[in-house]
This record gives sequence, structure tokens and C-alpha cells, in this order.
Amino acid sequence: MKTYTFRIRRFNPEKDTESHWEEYTVEMESMERVLDGLIRIKETQDGSLTFRRSCAHGICGSCAMKINGKNALACQSLIKEMPETITIEPLQAFPVIKDLVVDMEPFFEKNEEVLPYLINDEPPPERERLQSPEEQQRVLESITCIMCGSCTSSCPVFWSDPKYLGPSALLKAYRFIFDSRDRAQDERLKRILHEHGLWRCHSIYNCVEVCPKEIDITSHIIRLKRLALRKRLIKIQTKKNSNIEY
Ligand code: SF4
Ligand code: FES
Repeated sequence: MKTYTFRIRRFNPEKDTESHWEEYTVEMESMERVLDGLIRIKETQDGSLTFRRSCAHGICGSCAMKINGKNALACQSLIKEMPETITIEPLQAFPVIKDLVVDMEPFFEKNEEVLPYLINDEPPPERERLQSPEEQQRVLESITCIMCGSCTSSCPVFWSDPKYLGPSALLKAYRFIFDSRDRAQDERLKRILHEHGLWRCHSIYNCVEVCPKEIDITSHIIRLKRLALRKRLIKIQTKKNSNIEY
């Protein structure tokens, strides 16, 4: 057992005008996680401490927070890798509801904007719509996103432009645009090609650094940019009318 200090940014909208720091001392085993420490503080020291968690196993994405200056999942952050003082804040650039709980609604709304579901009105085959292993491989990494918000919260473009779709929504667009079974590629491209969309990504790679699923988000966004350019080129070359606006 070792003693750790949890330094937590607290905010209670019912009594605080701004956030402040509070510290808690906790005895922890090396194989425990930051989430275990937060639960212990809540159960034994301060029941008012507020944070989200559900699965506790890196699946639901609800325990994303800023730990020692970097977004991470509390349930995946091992105590043995932490300094003796652990600094914990809510996800940056998202409105804080209370303590470590942020308002994820605007984040989810941006994912909705890219139509995050398969669109294919061709008559369904007798069994499922099949994909080759190569076609599946193309979207495999993007499918592992757990919607934790860590990437978007760490993006400097999002800090300066809250209307920016952000890496998570762009990755979601990729996931369906490059899915061989989907038939709404042009419609989705239209939804990401605007002043707060695809071209606002400056390939800063903060998103890649914090993604708990180790998704190379920026490379996916670059593939989207290449596709948009190819479509633009074809449009210029064929001089055909297209409903895609750039
Ligand atoms: S891409 Fe990674 S960091 Fe972004 S929401 Fe998905 S899992 Fe979280
Ligand atoms: S509690 Fe589900 S990802 Fe951490």
C-alpha cells in the first residue's frame, strides 16, 4: 500500500461561482486504478464528489477525464504509473455540470450530424450484407471508438471553435463513408464539408495521443481529405453537376 494525494478540481453549480481544488489522501494498491481511488474517496471521505463511470473496464467511455494534464479513462489509468500527487480535472472545453461531470450533449449532437448509422436502401440480401476481409479491415480501427470524448476535448481547433465537428465526429463519418455496405457517401461528405468541418483539422495529433483505444484518428481524417479532393477533381474534370458543395 502507498499513500497518494488526489488533487481534484471541484465545482458545484449550486454554491460555487468558479471551480476550486480539493485534496484527498488515499491508501492505494499498485494494481488499482485512478477510478478505484475516486470511488474510495466518494465512499469514505466525501460523498458529494461527482464523476461518471459505468463499465469500469474501458468499454463505455464514461470515465474520461483529464489526469495529470492528459485526457484518459480513469478505469484504465493504473495507480502504479501515477506520481504521488494525482491531478484530476474534467474534460477540457466541455461545459462542466458538476465536479468531473461534463455536458456531453453537444459532443453527441455532432456525431449525429454525420448520420452515424448504415444507410442502404437497396433490397436486403437473404442473409446479412457481406463484406470481404479487406473491406472490413478498412473500417475496423474506426469501429473501436467508445465515444469517450477525449480526442475532441484535447483538440486546439475545438478549443478555439466550439462549432468544429471535432475528431470523434469526423472519425464516425469515416467509419460509414468507407464502409463498403453504405450508400450515403455523398450525403455524409456534404455534412462534413463546411467551415466547421473536415478542413478545420490541422493534423495536430493531440487526438491520437489521448485516444484510449489507440486509434490513429488523424490518419483517418487525412483519408477523408484525400477522398474529398478526389471527388472535387472528378467534378472539375467531368464538369458534371454534383450535389456536393465545397
Ligand atoms: S476516437 Fe478515441 S478518444 Fe475519440 S471518442 Fe473515440 S475512443 Fe475516445
Ligand atoms: S467506466 Fe467505462 S470506460 Fe471507464
